[in-house]
Amino acid sequence: MNYTIAVLPGDGIGPEIVGEAVKVLDSVAARFGHGFEYTYAAVGAAAIDATGDPYPAETDKICREADAILFGAIGDPRFDNDPAAKVRPEQGLLRMRQSLGLFANLRPVKLHASLVDRSPLKREVVEGTDFVCVRELTGGIYFGERGRSADGDSAFDTCTYTRVEVERIVRMALELAMKRRRKLTVVDKANVLETSRLWRETAKALVAEYPEVEVDYMFVDNAAMQLVTRPSVFDVVVTENMFGDILTDEASVISGSLGMLPSASVGSGNALFEPIHGSYPQAAGKNIANPMATILSAAMMIEHLGLDSEGAAIRAAVEKALEEGIVTEDLAKKDTKTYSTSEIGSYICSQI
Ligand code: IPM
Ligand code: MN
Repeated sequence: MNYTIAVLPGDGIGPEIVGEAVKVLDSVAARFGHGFEYTYAAVGAAAIDATGDPYPAETDKICREADAILFGAIGDPRFDNDPAAKVRPEQGLLRMRQSLGLFANLRPVKLHASLVDRSPLKREVVEGTDFVCVRELTGGIYFGERGRSADGDSAFDTCTYTRVEVERIVRMALELAMKRRRKLTVVDKANVLETSRLWRETAKALVAEYPEVEVDYMFVDNAAMQLVTRPSVFDVVVTENMFGDILTDEASVISGSLGMLPSASVGSGNALFEPIHGSYPQAAGKNIANPMATILSAAMMIEHLGLDSEGAAIRAAVEKALEEGIVTEDLAKKDTKTYSTSEIGSYICSQI
């Protein structure tokens, strides 16, 4: 089959890690007889430099027309250190999510057997960890009204959710739980926030349709603690945008490295695949960043296109690299050789 893939490398290490994922996709295409046609588009600081806009209309068009979108990372210290900047790279990512209706962000957290000793948690705590966080992605405080008082001395950000927004994401999480171990944890702050009470009320009404799924409700502060004390108890976790942002960064290090976690952002139409880590500007251009999260995102992408054995081939090749110690410096054992970004990509291609 032939597929059109929109490729958005973005900032920092984005171009390098996406380059390796494209190499891997080309190996998959050759081995399984598919054609991937890539259309490159600018986003983030790279797009600001080129056009003044972090999410140009041309990029939006390319994304809409593609069968799937592969994205690298966004962010640049030039903007982080300037609180007065009016145009920011991150706005590109947020506008892209909103424009393409990508309301659900699926972040699987799975411990790779060969990385158990890389986890900051004890082996007996972390073993068996395998869950998916379903993060709401186009609502809440990220997209609410915000502003400053006239004198500039007070500021506000508002968190809003509608029942429809909550229903569609909780339903997606329930459907996912049905395909997994049938356990759902709804994370909120219903003891304080009205939006959380709407989440809980809406979830409670919906779970009645899924009697096979065991559902529990957890306050976000407790969830943050449970993630590092009993991570293996989770199966599917569903939560609002900001809680999901924070909890998934926490969850990612459990698996040994932030450089390992892929993600899918999906909605009713388009779907975008990206590593959960950021643009790691200190490593940009040095060929040292771990490309595995992006390569695993490419696996999620082709599975989304229905190419399951092809996705499995990528996953097996990544596992093999981990077992053989073909890893970048973030994962290397003390006093062992570390491999470059492009060497990892080439090794994974050779295994496909
Ligand atoms: C993420 C990132 C983004 C977010 C930033 C870059 C806007 O941290 O995808 O988790 O907060 O959603
Ligand atoms: Mn984040």
